[in-house]
Amino acid sequence: MQDKTSPWSKWRNVFASRSQRPAPSLLRDEPNLEEVPASVARSLAIFQLGESGGGTITAQVRHSGLDGIDADYAEAMRLFVDEEHRHAELLACCVRVLGGELIRKNWTARLFVFARRLMGLRLKVLVLLTAEVVGICYYQLLSSRLPPCDMRGLLAEIVDDERMHLGFHCAFFRTQTRTRWRQFVFRAAWRVTTFAAALVVMLDHRHAIRDLGLPYGQVWKRWMAFSELAERLVLDDEDATFNASYAFSPSAAPASACDGTGAAEAPYNRSAATCP
Ligand SMILES: [Fe+2]
Ligand SMILES: [Fe+2]
Repeated sequence: MQDKTSPWSKWRNVFASRSQRPAPSLLRDEPNLEEVPASVARSLAIFQLGESGGGTITAQVRHSGLDGIDADYAEAMRLFVDEEHRHAELLACCVRVLGGELIRKNWTARLFVFARRLMGLRLKVLVLLTAEVVGICYYQLLSSRLPPCDMRGLLAEIVDDERMHLGFHCAFFRTQTRTRWRQFVFRAAWRVTTFAAALVVMLDHRHAIRDLGLPYGQVWKRWMAFSELAERLVLDDEDATFNASYAFSPSAAPASACDGTGAAEAPYNRSAATCP
């Protein structure tokens, strides 16, 4: 029977409702997509590979024994991994419609996997949180440079999910940073990890960033702004963690996510692409 008192039951319910969304369908070929540089398809193929992994963390959560997590958290994590795999399917549609090819290996994807396996659950979730920050910023920026097409709505759906994931992982770290010493360690680890991740992702995706006409400084500034926001959600803001996913998008209310419809159907919102 579901534990009504678990702080993770609401997350489990949100993930469960979103898992009912229909499977992604193939995107239409659109003439204006022919002008999208080939580097964008390759860039999305790298993200597609990154979204495909993460299966081992579910078993690790079940056996971790960390304070503050329970069976509801484990189930929410399982559903979270499923949602990331859905992103992999959505991005595969994007890569195909852009005429690109899916890949099986990439050095930044391997680096993220290596970092996740390096230590225990906390570091794994830290790497996942970093990936959420990178994903939110990158998918938003990329989408804002595409011509009008179905792919923009699809990327907006992924961004909406990543916002919720960011809130989910911040909620986890709130349970793991109850003392000043732990807060200090989190802050230091988070800043180093997010800085390193932004650097390697920017390096690996530099051709797409350049070809889309995105100023490197703007991309970097956005990553750092979301990184600082995540840090505040963990260490400062007592009540905002659960709603973190909706902090940047007035059109996406928690209720719409709970019934599993709003996120998938929300139109692309350009205003959501501004820095907080
Ligand atoms: Fe994702
Ligand atoms: Fe995510």
